Amino acid sequence: MVKPYKDSASGKKRQVAKMFDRIARHYDFLNHFLSLGIDRLWRKKAIRLIKPYKPLHVLDIATGTGDFAVEAIKLPGVTVTGVDISRGMLEKGIEKIEEKGLSARIELMYGDSEDLQFGAESYDAITAGFGVRNFENLEIGLAEMRRVLKPGGVVCILEFSRPTSFPMKQLYEFYFFKILPFFGKVVSKDDSAYTYLPESVYEFPDGEQFLDILRKIGFKNQQQHKLTGGIASIYMAEK
Ligand SMILES: C[S@@+](CC[C@H](N)C(=O)[O-])C[C@H]1O[C@@H](n2cnc3c(N)ncnc32)[C@H](O)[C@@H]1O
Repeated sequence: MVKPYKDSASGKKRQVAKMFDRIARHYDFLNHFLSLGIDRLWRKKAIRLIKPYKPLHVLDIATGTGDFAVEAIKLPGVTVTGVDISRGMLEKGIEKIEEKGLSARIELMYGDSEDLQFGAESYDAITAGFGVRNFENLEIGLAEMRRVLKPGGVVCILEFSRPTSFPMKQLYEFYFFKILPFFGKVVSKDDSAYTYLPESVYEFPDGEQFLDILRKIGFKNQQQHKLTGGIASIYMAEK
C-alpha cells in the first residue's frame, strides 16, 4: 500500500491526515495552479451530473478545504455536510465558507469516511473529490457511503485516472512524476506529498476495475465519465 511517508511506521490514515495538515495552507493554491484551474471545471461537471437527482441533503466525503461542498451548494435548495480527518484542511475550509457567507448551508466537521457517524439512509447524494484514493480501506469507505445514502440516491466520485493513449499518457506521466512533485515540494515544503500523489494514483483501481468494486459493494448503474483525455474521471453510481 502506498503511504505518504516511507520512513514512518504509522498507518496510512494517520499519515494522510498528517500530510494534509502540513500542506493545508497551500492546498487550494497548489490545486488550482498545478491543474491550471481544470479541477474547478471537473467539480462543476460532477455537480451538473448530480442535478437531475434533485438532492436536498448532500454529504461531501473527504471534503478537505470544501471546494466540492462550495460547488454542490449551487444545487437548488441543498444543504451540504462535509467530513474530513485533517483538522488543518477543515480549518481552511471553514474560513473559506465563512468568507463566502455560506455557513448556513454548509457545515464542515471532523469525520472518518471509513466510520461515518451518521445514521443509515441520511443523504440524497454523496460527493467525494480526490478523496477515496486516500482511504486506508477503500471497500469499507465505499460501503459506509452506501450505508448513509438513501435508496435511489447517487454517489459521485471524482478521482484522477490514467490516460492510455499517445501523447496524453506520455505528457501526463512526465508532468505527474517530474513537474508536479518539483513545484509541490517547493511551495508546500513537504517532501512527500506530491510524490505520494502520482504514486497513489498509479496504485489506485482505474476505470472498469473501480466500477467493479462499486458493483461489489452493492451500488448499481455505475458509470465512468472520463475527463480531459482520461486524466481524471467522475464515477457515478446509485443505491
Ligand atoms: C486531495 S484532498 C481533497 C479535498 C477536496 N475533496 C477537493 O476536492 O479538493 C483529500 C482529502 O481526503 C481526506 N481524507 C483521506 N482519508 C479520509 C478519511 N478516511 N475520512 C475523511 N477524510 C479523509 C484528507 O484529509 C484530505 O483532506
